[in-house]
Amino acid sequence: MPEQKFYLTTPIYYVNARPHIGHAYSTIAVDVIARRHRLLGDDTFFLTGTDEHGQKVERSAAAAGIPPLQFADEVSASFRALWDRMGITYDDYIRTTEPRHISAVQKLFQLLLDRDKIYLSSYTGQYSIGEEMFVDGPPGTIGPDGKPTETVTEENYFFRLSEYQLPLIDLIESDDPEKRLLIQPESSRNEVLSFLRGNVAEATERGEVLEVSASGKAYVPGALKDLSISRTSFKWGIPVPGNEKHVIYVWLDALANYMTAIGYGSDDPALQEKFNRYWPADLHLVGKEITRFHCVYWPAFLLAAEIPTPKSVVANGWLLFDDSKMSKSKGNVVRTETILDAFGTEVYKKQFPDSTKKEQDLFGADVLRYFLLREIPFGADGSFSFDAMITRYNADLANGYGNLVSRTLGLIVQNFSSGEIGGSPSGIARVPPLTKGNDTLAFIYSIDLRAHADTLVGLYQTENEYAFGSKLQRISDFIQKVDVFMTEQKPWKLATYLKTSSATTYPDAARQKEFEDNLRNDIVRLECILYTAAQSIRIITALLYPVLPFSTARVWAQLGLGDIEEAALNGELKNLEWGGLKPGTKLGPLAPIFPRADKGLAQIMIDMENPNAPKPEQPTPSRFVDETTTHTAPVPTDPTHPGAPPRTSGFADVAPGTTVAGSLAISTERTGTPSHSEAPASGIFANSAAHSNIPDTPQIAIDDFVKIDLRVAQIVVAERIPKADKLLRLEVDLGYEKRQILSGIAEWYAPEELIGKKIVVIANLAPRKMRGLESHGMLLAASHGEDGKPVLATFGEEIALGSRLK
Ligand code: MSP
Repeated sequence: MPEQKFYLTTPIYYVNARPHIGHAYSTIAVDVIARRHRLLGDDTFFLTGTDEHGQKVERSAAAAGIPPLQFADEVSASFRALWDRMGITYDDYIRTTEPRHISAVQKLFQLLLDRDKIYLSSYTGQYSIGEEMFVDGPPGTIGPDGKPTETVTEENYFFRLSEYQLPLIDLIESDDPEKRLLIQPESSRNEVLSFLRGNVAEATERGEVLEVSASGKAYVPGALKDLSISRTSFKWGIPVPGNEKHVIYVWLDALANYMTAIGYGSDDPALQEKFNRYWPADLHLVGKEITRFHCVYWPAFLLAAEIPTPKSVVANGWLLFDDSKMSKSKGNVVRTETILDAFGTEVYKKQFPDSTKKEQDLFGADVLRYFLLREIPFGADGSFSFDAMITRYNADLANGYGNLVSRTLGLIVQNFSSGEIGGSPSGIARVPPLTKGNDTLAFIYSIDLRAHADTLVGLYQTENEYAFGSKLQRISDFIQKVDVFMTEQKPWKLATYLKTSSATTYPDAARQKEFEDNLRNDIVRLECILYTAAQSIRIITALLYPVLPFSTARVWAQLGLGDIEEAALNGELKNLEWGGLKPGTKLGPLAPIFPRADKGLAQIMIDMENPNAPKPEQPTPSRFVDETTTHTAPVPTDPTHPGAPPRTSGFADVAPGTTVAGSLAISTERTGTPSHSEAPASGIFANSAAHSNIPDTPQIAIDDFVKIDLRVAQIVVAERIPKADKLLRLEVDLGYEKRQILSGIAEWYAPEELIGKKIVVIANLAPRKMRGLESHGMLLAASHGEDGKPVLATFGEEIALGSRLK
């Protein structure tokens, strides 16, 4: 058994709602991490399951007219069936109604009682039914679920949470990686810590005495109150041992699943051993709204029970529709099944009519996995749209990765009858690929793919494990590099030349020999180009495997490398060395990997989601429009109406040259008049060398330049704007005032990486409205690379806010 274990979990899903892609998002992320840890050789254990107790479930079952357990059985099975359809590699599936869980939760409760960490008392308060928690406020307060609370008086068992304020702060702030609870992203960590510290500012104002934690930061002692952990107002829960009119608070019940599933509380020695092996969990991946439960209550229960606390909690953001979190209660959900069915049948089955349903499902799951992880910076919220999914699929997978694979492997098969990569008698092994020359032959490529591959692998390995989006973007960039390499080298031209001229003979023997030598060199060169591209594809495929397990398995087999799951298990996938693809490897049978998806697929998915919705008169790619377009048919606005608009946003992209602050000002288009007349010809607007733009803007006098008020500002708030894929809403501090600026940099910068950056702002630009929001000012950025990526102008030295650039 490997030395290192890795135990990771999804949240367990409530059974009061059928699964939607919001749930799939958390599960997909955990599956990707689990696959990566397995290929790294870790003894990985991946747990998921369902959370089945509580008043919500009791009420949903009553509404459905069936007993709660039957209700839970059905919904739990639908979650499990979906994960199976998607090829999710969970190792165990826990249900909180299972006897193994119930008895272990009662043991944990008893242990806490025995240690006097739980006591019986009475409590009257405002109870949020939706969130199953008491909240502060007068009767009728609107609870966290958006509904009025109910006044509830209960005799309750209370957990002595107040004892754990400082221990929890210290646990989270500890420098010792062995002891601390790591919370990511930083915003979630800060949120938890400020909850634990209490309102320091208010307490200071009231003149209260503060205390200081080990990190030297102040906290309000007593800010953490004891927690009610039993209920008598409903029955559907785990009875408190010895006092069965109480059921155990659903969060204590639910959180304990992470231990009960791996054997906590069992008398079976094999299960005890399992618990000792895997506990504490290495990662609880959770939605951002439940970090408090995982980072405050859960570790506090464990500290009280003297059980080791989990090593990390990582929070994912929300999938949004129409500006709000996708959820059953809002009626704005998209079902994962729609995506599996649509991509499975309309794209995969069309290309492969004989494929099995399983293959079609796994293909659809790959598309969803890739889209969600590539599109949404992990930890942030992101809008889902069918149009965006199709566009991303076609760009990155069909035209990018898939096309590169087909093109490269197709050329190998067409030109080397053995179907071997670099395996001709001339022996590619003799030719160090992509070096700056060798003894006999010197092939110098302007694009050094090997160096690029090494950089990619290095960054991939050092970057935060959960930065899925930027990792996938790097891989996409590398795919483009390989594409450019192929286009530059034109192996197909060389191949045609070799085919058409190999029969040529010269009467002169010396000339004939020279010709044959050149021909041999050209064959080796052709092999070398294709081997280089194939080598890159191997690395790309190994890196993409956790995200695209089905499709990379097909590429791996086409590369002649066999079964990718075996490769993952035997450590081959972690070998990302250049040269991992051995010369002479014989390709497997070839077939398309990512058939193109038709834009009309969006409408198909929309119709699948809204079978009763009125159809537009004209088929349109999407019936979601922004304020610049009109609906073709009247669409109800109530999202719960059966004919309500589809739940996706398909907003038109911000057109180049529209009023997007920042990127507009630095447009590098030089094909006519400068694209922005305010752009001065000074060095402020830098262009990357790749564009090699020679400034051709008209000269201006210094008087013109001084009209532009350039100021140092700090970004204090950065967030996405729902339905505007390219725009970020920023609040900047100019020292003398704070401003809102909208900037078209959302494709390149994640909001969280901007906070705190000191940048340059054109402060005297007249305000204007975009998407109904005022933008006052513009950011300065340089345009970099072929796609004109904006790189914000920042400072290398300390600089006061509001300082003028002149
Ligand atoms: N049962 C609790 C978790 C208990 S864990 C000990 C629960 N269940 S849930 O079904 O409401 O949510 C489960 C997970 O799904 C959460 O992590 C939640 O964030 C995630 N999502 C549900 N809807 C989501 C989106 N719209 N977007 C992203 N994730 C979403 O909470």
